[in-house]
Amino acid sequence: MKQFTIVAKTMFGLEEILAKEIIDIGGEEIEILSRAVKFKGDKELLYKANLHLRTAIKILKPIATFQTRDENQLYERIQSINWSKYLSVNKTFSIDGITSGEIFTHSKYVALKTKDAIVDQFRDKYNKRPSIDLDNPHLRLNIHIYNTTCTVSLDSTGMTLAKRGYRLQQTTAPMNEALAAGLILMSGWDKKRDFFDPMCGSGTIAIEAALIARNIAPGRLRHFTFKNWDDFDPELWEKVKEEANDNIKPFRGKIIGHDLDYKAIEIAQQNTQRAGVRNVTEFKVSDFFKPKTEITDSHIIFNPPYGERLQAETDMIPFYKNIGTQLKHTLNGCDAWIFSGNLDAIKFVGLRPSKKIKLYNAAIECKFQKYELYSGSKKDK
Ligand SMILES: C[S@@+](CC[C@H](N)C(=O)[O-])C[C@H]1O[C@@H](n2cnc3c(N)ncnc32)[C@H](O)[C@@H]1O
Repeated sequence: MKQFTIVAKTMFGLEEILAKEIIDIGGEEIEILSRAVKFKGDKELLYKANLHLRTAIKILKPIATFQTRDENQLYERIQSINWSKYLSVNKTFSIDGITSGEIFTHSKYVALKTKDAIVDQFRDKYNKRPSIDLDNPHLRLNIHIYNTTCTVSLDSTGMTLAKRGYRLQQTTAPMNEALAAGLILMSGWDKKRDFFDPMCGSGTIAIEAALIARNIAPGRLRHFTFKNWDDFDPELWEKVKEEANDNIKPFRGKIIGHDLDYKAIEIAQQNTQRAGVRNVTEFKVSDFFKPKTEITDSHIIFNPPYGERLQAETDMIPFYKNIGTQLKHTLNGCDAWIFSGNLDAIKFVGLRPSKKIKLYNAAIECKFQKYELYSGSKKDK
């Protein structure tokens, strides 16, 4: 099949993990960019990328790259693309504009100019124009301008890949699913040890762990925009999905989620059911600060509440101090990773982290820190 360039977009700090995932599905000529990974592949790989990549948020297929210094040049360059190849007057489209650098500063304006250029091309040729549909367009375009370099891509994904489709209900501060998967992959969990999230909220981290452990494709419940394209190959798509189902594996360990809030646990259980991983997960209402005899030799990942940055000293510092004490006294023998956007409070965990990783949760800078909880001295271990 014909090879072309594919760009998988991701979040800050997840690029290396995403590159590994792309190698695993057969991507070639991998190039790590900022919040994205570029690679070569064919149509089958484009489908696989959408279905399998846990840490990607969009899969783009670039169709043109050019230089542009102002809006008129942008309009002309967009008009020089033959849009009848991708769109027709009775089809719908939408445009996402992303700009950085000093020349183009308004992404919405760039999207608007691009739309005008496309619509005018159809009007000139056919006296009719395709309409805009923001929810489920036939063609979703992505215009990315960095300084003077503009890349026009077809967005094969649609709604962010982070939305797997299992989380219909959520608690107040749910974690982005792609970020949760990134944390698990980055933490080096061996998929054999038990997994524990003691403050699981709507269950995202535990559910992503279960999907990883059973090798279940994260995208299997959702729709993708490439299915609307003229060149969509339903047989190839069926083959890609069948292969994914054939590769689901059993998992013999336990994946456990606790939370203080019974409503969160109810939601986590419903989400788990939809995700199809109920048989490997156990959720329970439980206060982290009460003794935990049932958790031994586990891989722990959790994101405690951040609190307000300004309230850090009053509320969150004692809370994070207690987390440290609890980890040390009742969970030794485990590895614990904490993800937090409260950069002041996390320092008060009081244990020495063996790894510290900088990440973002939306616009909030976060730390992902590992604590190795030995029962004896480090030397004994
Ligand atoms: C930031 S949220 C976790 C979000 C979760 N990762 C998700 O994706 O939905 C923090 C969670 O910690 C829980 N929590 C706070 N104090 C707790 C405690 N002492 N024991 C257990 N859970 C607690 C809250 O109820 C809340 O659901």
